[in-house]
Amino acid sequence: MKNPVNVLILAAGLGTRMKSSQAKVLHKIGSRPLIAHVLRTAAKLDPENIFVVVGHQAGKVEEAARASLNPAEAEKLRFIMQPEQRGTGHAVKCASDELKNARGSLVVFYGDTPAVKAETLRNLIAEHERAGNAATLITMRLDPPPAYGRIIRDAQDNFLKIVEERDCSAAERAITEVNPGFYCFDIPSLLDALEKLSPHNAQNEYYLTDVPQHILEAGLRAGAVFHEDPRELDGVNTRAEFAAMWKRLRHETIDRLMANGVTIIDPDSTYIDDSVEIGRDTVIHPQVIIEGDSRIGGNCEIHSWSRLVNVEIGDECKVLNSCVIVSSILTARNTVGPFAHLRLHAELAEEAVIGNFVEVKKSRLGRKTKSMHLTYLGDATIGDRVNIGAATVTCNYDGKQKNPTFIEDDVKIGSDTMLVAPVRVGRGSMTGAGSVVTKDVPPDSLVAGVPAQVKKKLKE
Ligand code: UD1
Ligand code: CA
Repeated sequence: MKNPVNVLILAAGLGTRMKSSQAKVLHKIGSRPLIAHVLRTAAKLDPENIFVVVGHQAGKVEEAARASLNPAEAEKLRFIMQPEQRGTGHAVKCASDELKNARGSLVVFYGDTPAVKAETLRNLIAEHERAGNAATLITMRLDPPPAYGRIIRDAQDNFLKIVEERDCSAAERAITEVNPGFYCFDIPSLLDALEKLSPHNAQNEYYLTDVPQHILEAGLRAGAVFHEDPRELDGVNTRAEFAAMWKRLRHETIDRLMANGVTIIDPDSTYIDDSVEIGRDTVIHPQVIIEGDSRIGGNCEIHSWSRLVNVEIGDECKVLNSCVIVSSILTARNTVGPFAHLRLHAELAEEAVIGNFVEVKKSRLGRKTKSMHLTYLGDATIGDRVNIGAATVTCNYDGKQKNPTFIEDDVKIGSDTMLVAPVRVGRGSMTGAGSVVTKDVPPDSLVAGVPAQVKKKLKE
């Protein structure tokens, strides 16, 4: 692409057919709001600015938009308020002042089209530049045509104009080439044409679709690129369409993963965000959910009913059934579960093992360290080859703040030990079953406490 590119997303609408108190673009597909899908695709064009026209619940939409991009991409966001929705042309016009300061071309589309591929937008820009157009739009064919703008061409098949369905003659209504709502404009030509829009049409709206005709009338070039797959350009408008779109997007992801050598036993019951990467020969069992920016290595096995969110998992790891792992790291050859909960930066060094009913929060376990049963490890730094007995608790919260626990290499923590933090257990030490450890334990020592004593005989 020769010219700088800018993107403008129309996201001011409420989405009446959602029957929701929440703006449509905030509803999720997978783990991300609709607006995030569109912005992440827009960011792939490496634009100079990403303009977002907001209206309904502008504050929340802006927040969701910022959260969906990395910090460098989020810096490109420019929000434009459209206080009342007076048509797609009016929406773009609201951005006029900001657009005057932008260079190059502007790609415009809607915030409710999550399936569009960056490649499709790049083709639009490439054709726009190749043809030397001031306006280029994508067209597609649908028969029978939906209630979309119709593409009117002359006898030589050159693009002439778009006519909204409600403004069509009977002959125009029969045209099956329609406007899905994706445009590329030369910015100064667009600004001139926006000045010429008028709301004298069936909907009393300022139509963005009138811009290409004004551009032709100004003696500039306008053209169209035909797109084969109309479903990619679909907008979502109802809860049923959201569900169908999520199904379609996750099947695209699953197909990509399988093509790269991942075994997915039951694609229909597997829920994986498009941002997830998985290595070769990893097996994903039925009813697994993997969300966010998660990376899973090769030769892993993820068993049923587990949910992984923003995880980093190295090679040859096993996640057994019904685990929840959020924002955590498995390094390599780890086993977790069944029924384990890792969250908020839990980190397992190589070959560390977490068993059933163990919760690990903001803690690091060293190499070959094991915690197999019924345990809470929070704010703990645990060395290598440590064994944590069943029902151990790091008592990290004193009612005011979280306190750290340090367990050095080669320690054996006896079952049901309460480690009252802040506390340190020195290298090579042991705690007896049921110990309540309130003071630091020196290295190579055995501590034990609270032994049971006979209080009375129950039978003589
Ligand atoms: C528009 C096109 C139509 C095309 C169709 C494809 C116009 C005049 N018509 O019709 O040719 O076939 O899309 O889906 O552009 N929006 C705003 N502010 C507004 C109006 C709309 O932000 O003032 C946003 C809406 O949130 C929505 C999108 O723009 O996401 C489309 O608006 P809508 O009025 O529904 O356009 P259509 O009637 O579908
Ligand atoms: Ca409309």
